[in-house]
Amino acid sequence: MKIQRRPSNVLLPVPLVMVSVAGVDGGDPDIVTLAWVGNVCSAPPMLSISLRPSRHSYGLLQRTHEFVVNVPTRSQAREVDLCGNVSGRDTDKFAACGFHAVSGARVAAPLIEECPINIECVTRHRLSLGAHDLFVGEILAVHFNEDVLDSRGRLQAGKVDPLSYVIGEYWSLGEKVGSYGYTLKEPRGGAKG
Ligand SMILES: Cc1cc2nc3c(=O)[nH]c(=O)nc-3n(C[C@H](O)[C@H](O)[C@H](O)COP(=O)(O)O)c2cc1C
Repeated sequence: MKIQRRPSNVLLPVPLVMVSVAGVDGGDPDIVTLAWVGNVCSAPPMLSISLRPSRHSYGLLQRTHEFVVNVPTRSQAREVDLCGNVSGRDTDKFAACGFHAVSGARVAAPLIEECPINIECVTRHRLSLGAHDLFVGEILAVHFNEDVLDSRGRLQAGKVDPLSYVIGEYWSLGEKVGSYGYTLKEPRGGAKG
């Protein structure tokens, strides 16, 4: 028996990230926690973020058109929560979190050194949706902390230990249950259904 409710954002899980943007006119750079984020294109590689126009980071992004998506680890949940509950208008979030801002390779927005994955983006599209504006960013460069790569340079998700947003709660990954295309390698091939 299904129970129908009014429309709401119940898709789960979704990634939890910290987006950094450069300051303007001599101001501080900002960090904003976002859950409305996702991969949207493989070639060119693109992702999207959704921001409310009221955010301080929105104003900075509208001026600079560049941002960095920083993927935090489970141990950074407190910083994720802080950057999602105070504004860069009155708080230097790099200082408040004890984070270090390091220069990227392709954009002026700083990387958060402490996050294991940093994705440099330039805005290619902006779409006003209602409460949020969707920014589609082209990925210009990615950076990994050495310790999340294996000896062959492959990303190890378990070592990143990322956070997900699940209807108001922060969760970490569970167990690995398979790999892309693994059913095709089984004796009779093909998943059920
Ligand atoms: C878990 C979490 C997820 C959030 N996701 C979003 C989001 O996707 N889009 C958005 O505009 N704000 C989101 N927020 C709210 C902003 O992070 C928050 O308003 C922040 O203080 C804005 O900072 P700023 O004014 O420095 O830009 C989220 C907050 C939390 C705690």
